[in-house]
Amino acid sequence: MNRKIELSPRLRMVADLVPAGARLADVGTDHAYLPAALILEGKIPSAIAADLRQGPLARARTTVREAGLTGRVAFRLCDGLKGIDPRETEAVAIAGMGGETIASILAAAPWTRERDLPLILQPMSSMSDLRQWLGENGFCIVTERLACEGDTLYTAMLVRAGQMAPQTPAELWAGRNTADPLRGDWLDLWLGKTDRALDGLAQARQEGGARRRQELEQVRAGLLEMKKEWEAWQR
Ligand SMILES: C[S@@+](CC[C@H](N)C(=O)[O-])C[C@H]1O[C@@H](n2cnc3c(N)ncnc32)[C@H](O)[C@@H]1O
Repeated sequence: MNRKIELSPRLRMVADLVPAGARLADVGTDHAYLPAALILEGKIPSAIAADLRQGPLARARTTVREAGLTGRVAFRLCDGLKGIDPRETEAVAIAGMGGETIASILAAAPWTRERDLPLILQPMSSMSDLRQWLGENGFCIVTERLACEGDTLYTAMLVRAGQMAPQTPAELWAGRNTADPLRGDWLDLWLGKTDRALDGLAQARQEGGARRRQELEQVRAGLLEMKKEWEAWQR
């Protein structure tokens, strides 16, 4: 029996944002490492492990059985939150998926906003689309965290129902300034992406290029401003 699950830095970041004591729905659970680790650590009492596919859900069952947690985790084969009753859960984690998929899962479950559930979202891509969607659909990003695994940086956000102050183009790309120690590296990553996109644009000479260039330059200026603020906090 496995009485401790060592989470990767990315999943540890997600775990740290889960409110203590909440019955958690982990959407796209795959191995169910997140809910199993949190129950073993005593942070949450129980969880629902949900996945769209049989294979990942079978892996989830194995993890839970080997951790001696049978009965503490319920399993659901479903798309997003479609197989979960709102009364069964007090927090929702959606980690390791694209930002657009995360937004579409939340769009199909408006009760997450109506019940003001804490949502812990960990997008792997399309982060600016997700931040924009959240702002336009009655959600507010309470905080963002960063984690590093190998050479890769990841973000996770704690989201609640509420009105979010308008986000600048740079904030849509990189999130709002936080005191996270990895923030400088994160801003450098997005500055690098902006520079590469600007270089690509210079070479391609596509139609609409001038407008895109203007947008990218606005993002770049915002990122540089955030970097300056972040460096000032470090002193
Ligand atoms: C890369 S894994 C992430 C596993 C884990 N959450 C993590 O962050 O390490 C993505 C999982 O999401 C599941 N998935 C993708 N789309 C889904 C959806 N619409 N509803 C539920 N699960 C979904 C996939 O089957 C897969 O098991």
